[in-house]
Amino acid sequence: KYKACIFDLDGVIVDTAVYHYKAWKRLANEMGFDFTEHQNEQLKGVSRMASLELILGWGQVTGATEAEKEEMATRKNLWYTDMINQMTPDEILSGAEEFVQACRDAGIKTAIGSASKNTPIILAKLQLTQLFDAIVDGNSVSKAKPNPEVFLKGAEALGVEPAECVVFEDAVAGVEAALNAGMKAVGIGSPKMLTEADVVVSGLDKFSLEMLEEL
Ligand code: BG6
Ligand code: MG
Repeated sequence: KYKACIFDLDGVIVDTAVYHYKAWKRLANEMGFDFTEHQNEQLKGVSRMASLELILGWGQVTGATEAEKEEMATRKNLWYTDMINQMTPDEILSGAEEFVQACRDAGIKTAIGSASKNTPIILAKLQLTQLFDAIVDGNSVSKAKPNPEVFLKGAEALGVEPAECVVFEDAVAGVEAALNAGMKAVGIGSPKMLTEADVVVSGLDKFSLEMLEEL
């Protein structure tokens, strides 16, 4: 029934949230404030510059110029990529590689639909680049989730209709983006958070091709 599965990267294939948190926290600390891991939840699925705006708001930092904000985001990203560069395939989330491979074996196309500009390096470190027929990421989209652009571009790259796609997402904004694209959404995480998703599981190890057919 479905011809393609489109996967968010951060929080679905790999858990990079802790690295984002460490790097943003270091930036905040250098500016003299802190924020919690709970607040960090709000940054999931949010683009780099939008994340920075939220964090500056938490620290009540006002009046930074665009150039200063660019510099802050670049500084954070250097710390982040230092950590990302140490990643190994061990960090692939349980069941992720197996499920994507099962899709391919069943003739279902696969794509990544991520907000991250670091997608190519993360996939390379995890040795997963070849597992996806298309990769749409923060380098090729201009409108952030919940705008459906990233997933619509994924469907286009795979040559399928949006209604033939199922999206796997851990972020509320990402689930919304999938629905806005006219696709089914499988939430990865807590049903309390991802209330709009068609079904929610704790991870791809808890999802199967049988469940895909039932959506
Ligand atoms: C998303 C993450 O996948 O990518 C966000 O959930 C992150 O936390 C965003 O801010 C952008 O990532 P990057 O790698 O381009 O800074
Ligand atoms: Mg995510």
